[in-house]
Amino acid sequence: MEALAAKPVPPHVPPHLVGDFSLFTSPGMAPTPNGDPQAAAAVVHDGPPIFYSPFNTRDGRGTWVITRAQDQRRVLQDPESFSSHRSIFASALGENWPMIPLELDPPDHGKFRTLLNPLLSPRRVMALETAVRERASFLIDRIASSGTSCDVMKDFAFPFAVNIFLRFLGLSDDRLDEFVGWANDLLHGDNVQRPAAARTIIAFIDDLTAQRRAEPVDDFMSFLIKAEIDGRPLTDLEIRGTGVLLFVAGLDTVAAAIGFALNYLARNPQEQELLRGDPSRILLAAEELLRAYPTVQMIRVATRDVDFDGVPIRKGDYVSCATMIANRDPAEFSCPHMIDLAREDNRHTAFAYGPHRCLGSHLARREIVVGLEEWLKRIPSFRIKQGTAPVTYGGHVFGIENLILDWS
Ligand code: HEM
Repeated sequence: MEALAAKPVPPHVPPHLVGDFSLFTSPGMAPTPNGDPQAAAAVVHDGPPIFYSPFNTRDGRGTWVITRAQDQRRVLQDPESFSSHRSIFASALGENWPMIPLELDPPDHGKFRTLLNPLLSPRRVMALETAVRERASFLIDRIASSGTSCDVMKDFAFPFAVNIFLRFLGLSDDRLDEFVGWANDLLHGDNVQRPAAARTIIAFIDDLTAQRRAEPVDDFMSFLIKAEIDGRPLTDLEIRGTGVLLFVAGLDTVAAAIGFALNYLARNPQEQELLRGDPSRILLAAEELLRAYPTVQMIRVATRDVDFDGVPIRKGDYVSCATMIANRDPAEFSCPHMIDLAREDNRHTAFAYGPHRCLGSHLARREIVVGLEEWLKRIPSFRIKQGTAPVTYGGHVFGIENLILDWS
């Protein structure tokens, strides 16, 4: 991560509520061989329900950190006080337009969700199931036939997730590596790579929009061009904001979830055997792995001064609701650090909570479950390859690199 100075702590923050913690800079958050950033984030449960972290965004801003799952729900369900309008993507270019629906607030947010929900409904995802399974089998067969080791992220998780996602967008995957590179630069790049990637993605989406306007086909962008909100077509900026979000949202989230899941199973051969022997256990196991290894930090902006149980949140303050923190809350989950692949009633927040609940969660869940089913069916007992160490990292979106498995 680029070295940025923390902005000064605002004067209204009581000094005793300034915490020495950050999802970017605390131990375990920088790229760490054999790291466990989700467990590292959970140290905040030893502290107060809310505190101020002076450096908790990529650009060095401070945020309030809400540590209890119940309090996070209060924030996420109150968009009037805690807005999603932040223009994270556009601000990398010094611009100010929202990714849609992620950075919209009610009532506009609901209109776009109503438009987009049917595209990723459980029924639509069921229709994609055959393609999802075929793709997983194809990639894993290729891995199995070429040796007894692979880099899961490069050889399976990314090509799998991105292929399915591009199929949903109506795009072929001949430019898959290029797309993964753009997403990587955007999410994890430095001050030069991020704006450059943002510009490239915008140019790609604008170009695709122009092509589909000229020659509509049965795909997502053609759908957006024909769609109406309040009886009018979408503006060019709305089409761009929606296209950019859908492009970015599914690129590395599913891959990271599969990576963290296989990293856990590689280190726990008995659990691996249990799932391999009885694949009907994979559904619950996938939920538990999503609970224990979620990847997204949500940020909201206070729209007014709020007294949060005596803590003075001021208009304009950033408020962080990190899924990795909520999912390890001992008040919500018994033995939160224990990974119980048969855990029931698992009300985790990996896909968020409230109006912005992940639009792609049904697709993501299917990909993870099918990916694990096909992997365990085809690959015998696997472990981390000796002499290698997967590198994990924190930030806005947690991830894992260099996950080299071996089943020789
Ligand atoms: C394991 C994979 C995934 C995880 C953990 C995940 C997580 C999340 C989270 C936490 C949010 C809420 C963000 C916020 O409120 O600030 C969100 C929103 C969203 N996600 Fe996902 N996501 C995943 C996969 C996907 C996929 C595959 C797609 C698209 C096909 C997708 C599309 C979206 C969209 C469009 C939103 C915005 C929803 C709204 O604002 O109403 N996600 N996701």
